Amino acid sequence: MRKIYLVRHGKPDFPDDGRWCLGRTDLPLGTLGKLQASLLGKESEGWLLNAVFCSPLARARETAEPILSALNAAGAAEKTLSVYDDLTELDAGIWDGHSFEEIKLRWPDLYETRVDASIPIPGQEPYEEAQKRFLRGLYAAVDNSTGNIAIVAHTTVFCLALCALTGRSPYELRSFRLPYGSYTVLEQEAPGFALSVCPEAIGLLPSPPPDEELCTALLYASDLTSDSVVRHCMAVRDEALRIASALNAARPEAPLDLKLVEAAALLHDVARFAPEHEKVGAEYLEELGYPEVSEVIRQHKELDSPEINEAAVVFIADKCRKGELPVTVEQRFSFKLQSFNEPEALASAKRRYALACEVRSRINGACGSEIIRVGSFEDAFA
Ligand SMILES: [Fe+2]
Repeated sequence: MRKIYLVRHGKPDFPDDGRWCLGRTDLPLGTLGKLQASLLGKESEGWLLNAVFCSPLARARETAEPILSALNAAGAAEKTLSVYDDLTELDAGIWDGHSFEEIKLRWPDLYETRVDASIPIPGQEPYEEAQKRFLRGLYAAVDNSTGNIAIVAHTTVFCLALCALTGRSPYELRSFRLPYGSYTVLEQEAPGFALSVCPEAIGLLPSPPPDEELCTALLYASDLTSDSVVRHCMAVRDEALRIASALNAARPEAPLDLKLVEAAALLHDVARFAPEHEKVGAEYLEELGYPEVSEVIRQHKELDSPEINEAAVVFIADKCRKGELPVTVEQRFSFKLQSFNEPEALASAKRRYALACEVRSRINGACGSEIIRVGSFEDAFA
C-alpha cells in the first residue's frame, strides 16, 4: 500500500492580512507560511517518503523545501524536487491576484455570485479542465515514483482531485476544507490501481512535539529573527531551564513543565523584528497549534501576574540576558531606561522592572537562595 501526501502550501505573503484571490499569481510564503513549512518538514519525517513533487509556484516550492530536506536527511542518495507544471493552481482569470475587498468594489455583481461555483469568473480556467490537468500531473507523479510520495500544491486543484476521487461534481469542490499548511492522504493498493482518499485524513494539520530540534528549525525559518536573535533565544533557554530545574528541586509538589519552558524560551523572540513582537510571536504559535507555548510567549515582555509558573520563568530568564550575556535585572533595565524618551514608555519599563524584581524575589524565596543574582538598584536608573 502506497501513500500519497497532498500538501497544501503555507500562508502566502499577502501585502495586507486580508483575503486574496490567488491562482497563478506567484507570491512567496509569508512568515507564518515559512513556519508552517518548517512544521510540515518535521511532520514528514514520519511519512517515510521516497520523492517530493511540487507545483512551479514559489509558495509550493518553498513549502516543499523542508520536506525534501527531511527526506534527504533520512536517505542515502540525494533527491531533488520534481516540479510539474500540471500541478499548478487554477488560473482565476480577472480576479487572480486581487484582494476580495477590491473584487467586491470592481465586480460587485460577480462578487455576489461567488458562492456558486458553476458561475465562472471571466478568463478563469474551467474547473473540468483544471481537474483533468491536475489529475494528469498527479498520476504522472505516482507513475514516475515508487513508495510514499508528497505532492506540494494548492487548495483548488486538490479539492477538484478530491471531487473526482470521491465521485462528486467538480462544482462541489467547496465541500472540502484544506487549511494552509495542511495535508491530505491518498492511498494506492498496488501499481495501476486507482487512488483512494483516506476519509479521516483530509486537511490534517501537522502537530509534531515542540522539541529543541523543531523550535530551532522554526527560529531559523522565521524571517523576523537573525543569527544573534537565535543565539539570544538559546541563552534565554539555558537560563530558563536552570531556574526551572532549581524551582522543581525546591518545590517537588508543584513541578513546572520543563518541555514547555524550553520551547517557549527558545521561541519567545520568533517574531523579534515585528512591532509588538510578543503578540505577533504568540499569534504564530497559536496558529501553528501550540496554545500553551503561545501563552508564555505573549507574556514574555510583560507578565499577567508575578505568580511562579512557566511564563514567569521565561520572563525573568529573558530579563537576565542582554543578547547572550548574563546580566542582572538592574543592568538589563539600565540598558532599556536610557533608550526611552516618552514618559509612557518609561513608565512601562519601570513597571516591568518592578515586576521582574518581584518575580526574582519570589523565585529566590522559593529556592531558599539567591539563584537569580540581585544587582544594585542604582544600576537600573543609571
Ligand atoms: Fe528576548
